[in-house]
Amino acid sequence: MGKNTDLVHLGRDPMAQHGVVNTPVYHASTIVYPTIEAFKNRAADDRKYRGVRYGAYGTPTTFALADTVAQLEGGVGGVVTSSGLAAATMALTAFLNSGDHLLMVDSVYTPTREFCNSVLVRLGVETTYYDPLIGTGIAGLIRSNTRVVFTESPGSLTFEVQDIPAIAAAAHQRDALILLDNTWGTPLFFKPFAHGVDISIQAATKYIAGGSDLVIGIITAAEEQYFRQLKDTTLAFGEIAAPDDCYQALKGMRSMGARLKQQQAAALDVARWLQDRSEVKRVLYPALEENPGHHLWQRDFTGASSLFGVLFHEASEEAVARMVDNYRYFKIGASWGGFESLVIPADPAAYRTAPPWDESGYLLRYHIGLEDPQDLISDLADGFQRLH
Ligand SMILES: Cc1ncc(COP(=O)(O)O)c(C=O)c1O
Repeated sequence: MGKNTDLVHLGRDPMAQHGVVNTPVYHASTIVYPTIEAFKNRAADDRKYRGVRYGAYGTPTTFALADTVAQLEGGVGGVVTSSGLAAATMALTAFLNSGDHLLMVDSVYTPTREFCNSVLVRLGVETTYYDPLIGTGIAGLIRSNTRVVFTESPGSLTFEVQDIPAIAAAAHQRDALILLDNTWGTPLFFKPFAHGVDISIQAATKYIAGGSDLVIGIITAAEEQYFRQLKDTTLAFGEIAAPDDCYQALKGMRSMGARLKQQQAAALDVARWLQDRSEVKRVLYPALEENPGHHLWQRDFTGASSLFGVLFHEASEEAVARMVDNYRYFKIGASWGGFESLVIPADPAAYRTAPPWDESGYLLRYHIGLEDPQDLISDLADGFQRLH
């Protein structure tokens, strides 16, 4: 099946639901059983992992979303979490124990970094940050107690593309697991398990939901034992997403292919236009041929989502504010993957260590929505007038 056919047909069975097209929202805490024996056996065998047995452990709506994303990514199973951040922190918690060592990419989403620097420190896990461009060099950082190598490719502020197959090969040689935050790649444009990843994380808040109106996460696994370990951990924490949010995410996902096709084309138009402006030092977007990560992106990805960075030549805070505060369509706000265009300032120098971020210039991160690219370009052009 083509990927858009998959998006439309996975995770629903109209004939099992009176012909209703969408998988319904099952609201549940209590699940009732016909006999004491059935109640006692409710978590026996695979029912612990895939059965509908208590609301907090999942309903047909949550399973439909998790299974759909797992199938799209090529994994054996998935779990839903209350946010994308929870997907990352639950995945880390599932595979790390006190005394373990974690290799964390230095370009990681900042709240994931904060989790390592706070909760994981408290739990006795040591984190070493590594250069996103390290490639096979990761082998030199792996210790006997390194359990997890966490990747995010490209990083969602600075957009370095990681050599995931090379990192995965080095990690597997030393029995470490590869976790990937695959939110930018989406389940459509990067197939994590075909590239050596063991556990994939999606902030479904972004392109999957697509409406800027909910937060939700999904973790998927390459192997059954990893899926069960993830599920054991999320069950132990009582971590779950609400069925209404799963329903909305499933509904959003049906149109993700069409949205991404339009957003990718618009992002390329806008990025190319920006790249030619004298005010712009560099556009951080792997889909551009001039980008240093382009060859890896071309090798491993089948498309680009519509989030990129723009490094401006030196500009004062006041001038940038004049430009950005008065955009007509680009609104200032965090998150991405919705239908509308966004912009935020970014300051990697504030936290990057491996290596420290020493590139001069003012960094803004743009998300390209579903507006007509010509309107976005004219908004940006007007903004440049205000920058001078
Ligand atoms: C790369 C990446 N991962 C994870 C998250 C967290 O997702 P959520 O907002 O659902 O917690 C974000 C949010 O911006 C993100 O950019």
